Order: sequence, then C-alpha cells, then structure tokens
Amino acid sequence: RQYRIALIPGDGIGTEVVDAAWQVLAAAAARHGFALAAEAFPWSCAHYLAHGRMMDADGLERLSAFDAILLGAVGWPATVPDSVSLHGLLLPIRKAFDLYVNARPHRLLPGVRGPLRAEDFDLLVIRENTEGEYSGAGGRVHVGTPHEVAVETSIFTRRGVERVLRHGFEQARRRSGRLASVTKSNAQKHTMVFWDEVTEQLAAEYADVQCTRYHVDAIAARLITHPASLDVVVASNLFGDILTDIGAAIQGGLGFAASANVNPGGGVPGMFEPVHGSAPDIAGRGLANPLATIWAGALMLEHLGEAAAGAAIIAAMEAVTGAGRVATPDMGGRASTAEVAAAVAAALADG
Ligand code: NAI
Ligand code: MG
Repeated sequence: RQYRIALIPGDGIGTEVVDAAWQVLAAAAARHGFALAAEAFPWSCAHYLAHGRMMDADGLERLSAFDAILLGAVGWPATVPDSVSLHGLLLPIRKAFDLYVNARPHRLLPGVRGPLRAEDFDLLVIRENTEGEYSGAGGRVHVGTPHEVAVETSIFTRRGVERVLRHGFEQARRRSGRLASVTKSNAQKHTMVFWDEVTEQLAAEYADVQCTRYHVDAIAARLITHPASLDVVVASNLFGDILTDIGAAIQGGLGFAASANVNPGGGVPGMFEPVHGSAPDIAGRGLANPLATIWAGALMLEHLGEAAAGAAIIAAMEAVTGAGRVATPDMGGRASTAEVAAAVAAALADG
C-alpha cells in the first residue's frame, strides 16, 4: 500500500521538525511494509511575501488528492501579521475539509519531567474544531462611545455537537471506557444545557462507556490535581483550546504536544501537526524538539490504518526519552533536532 502525504513545513522550526519527523516516518514505513509518497508545499510567510498569498489559489483542491497532511508551523510575526498567516493557511484547511475533531494526546513520556507530582496520566482531549464559541458570529455597535456593546455568539448545532461527542464515545470504547464531557451548563443555559442533553442521549446509546459531566472550571483544576482520574475528555472549541494548553503543560511542554485534525469517515485528508508554532527565538539552529511532530506523524499513521507502525513510533520515542541520552535543550540535553530524530529512527529499527 502507498499513502500520499502532503508536507507543509511552513515557517521557522516548522521546516526543521517536519524534516526530522519525515525521517522517522520513512523508517516506520520501510519496517512495516507500506510506502509513503511525499509532496512538499512551500506555503509559508516567505511564500506570502513573494506571491501575496499564503497558499496557491488551487491549494485546497490540490490537497484534497492526498491521504493526509503533515504540517510543521505557520507564522513569522516579524514580516507577516499572525492574523494573515493563520487565516491564509491553517484555518482554510480545517474549514475546507470540515476537520471537526481536534484530538490531542497528553501523557508523560518516560524520563520526561512535567510540573506535576502525578506521572501516570494518559489523556486524550477531543476539541470540537468547527463551531461553538469560535463561530465568529457577532459584532460591535456604538463603537468608541460610552454606549459601546460587543457581542460574540456561540453557535452549537445538533449535528456538530453530536458528531464530536460520538467520536469521543468511540475513542472511550477503544481506550479505558471512560469519557468526560465538559460544559459550563450552570452558567450558560442555552448552548451548554444543549451540549449536556446531547451527551446524555449518546450516553444512553453507549451504555458500556462510563460518562461523567464536568464543568470546565472543575475539570481544569482536576487536570492539575488528579489527571489520572480522566481519560477521554470532550470539550467545545474554546474550552478544548484552554484545556489542551493545560494538557501540553503537564506533559512537559510544547515540544511534546501533538494534534490531529480529522473528519472521521469523511473521506478527506486529516491534518496532523505539533501544537507549537514556528519558534522564531530558536529557529534555524537545530534546537527544536522534534518529538511533538514525530508524535503527530504517529497519529497520522494510526488514522491511515497503520496502527502497528504508529505504536512502534511511540515505543521508539519512549525508548529514546527513557534512556535520556539524546535530548534537545528543552528536555535538558544538548542534542540537535536531527540527532533526536535519528535516535528515534534507530530505536524503531531495533524495536
Ligand atoms: P511558539 O510555539 O512558536 O513558541 C513558544 C515558545 O516555545 C518559544 O520560546 C519556543 O522556543 C518554544 N518552543 C516551541 N516549540 C518548541 C520545540 N519544538 N522545541 C523547543 N522549544 C519550542 O509560539 P509563539 O512564539 O507564540 O509563536 C511564534 C509563531 O508561530 C507565531 O507566528 C504564531 O502565530 C505561530 N504559531 C503557529 C501555530 C501553528 O502553526 N499551528 C501554533 C502556534 C503559534
Ligand atoms: Mg491554544
């Protein structure tokens, strides 16, 4: 089997971590008997400065021919405003392919020290990725006057809420059988009460899954105090955004946090990426931790149906962090991005 992968390295360390992850993915493909055919797209802030757009006009159409997209990071605030780079590339891709699930695994790899005392947590946070609080509905009136009013309306649809929760229940079934649904339905009486109702309907359908409802403030605290008590967490766009930053922090930082943007069963390419950005402060020096992007690559293989290869990549990362010898500066070591990737690829060959 062969999979076609669109690579969008982007800006700054994006190019470095995608190069690194590709080495590991190629090694995994060779070992597990499938082929990965990559085509790289130079869409980035440099592309914007040269051509006046972040991606080519037919970019989305070209991407639709691929099985998956692996993205590094987009943004270079020194030359292009972040609002331009984000709205010109990342958001159009999420929107065009209706990538309504944003799934982020959060756990500590062996040997990695997070800020918490708890070490045994293993979370999958699923964030609704297309509607909710980030729908963009609203506006301002009487601008600049003492009577100014600004309104930002959340939009939740039954289709939107049900499909992301259903994905959560399916994942819970495959994992520990526990699901946490996040709202603030004591304070937000329309949208969040609706979310609770849809949760209860699905909970009846998935009677084998233990479903618990949490308010977002309570679960934010619980992520710090008792992260091991949680497994699959499903939340709206805004709440998921905030909770996954907590997740990234407790798993050791941005160098480890990976993200899958997918439309399960949609027949469209998913987009897999590290959570971090282009890190202008360390770009071009081989200092970036590639593990977040390698992990994103493992999620990509899993989504493509190559679960064994994805699991082998995770095991190889664990072997490298557990041994503690090859580590980038953010992990307390002195190795380069490429050296960490080479160590993971080598562990994969041994594994
Ligand atoms: P950032 O994530 O690029 O960097 C924040 C801090 O974390 C920096 O000190 C950086 O050195 C460090 N860091 C990030 N990734 C690392 C890694 N793999 N290894 C070691 N250290 C790492 O966030 P920042 O500085 O706010 O944004 C820089 C640019 O990236 C902006 O243009 C922003 O819009 C863009 N960005 C793009 C994202 C994307 O493409 N999905 C996500 C976040 C930011
Ligand atoms: Mg965020």
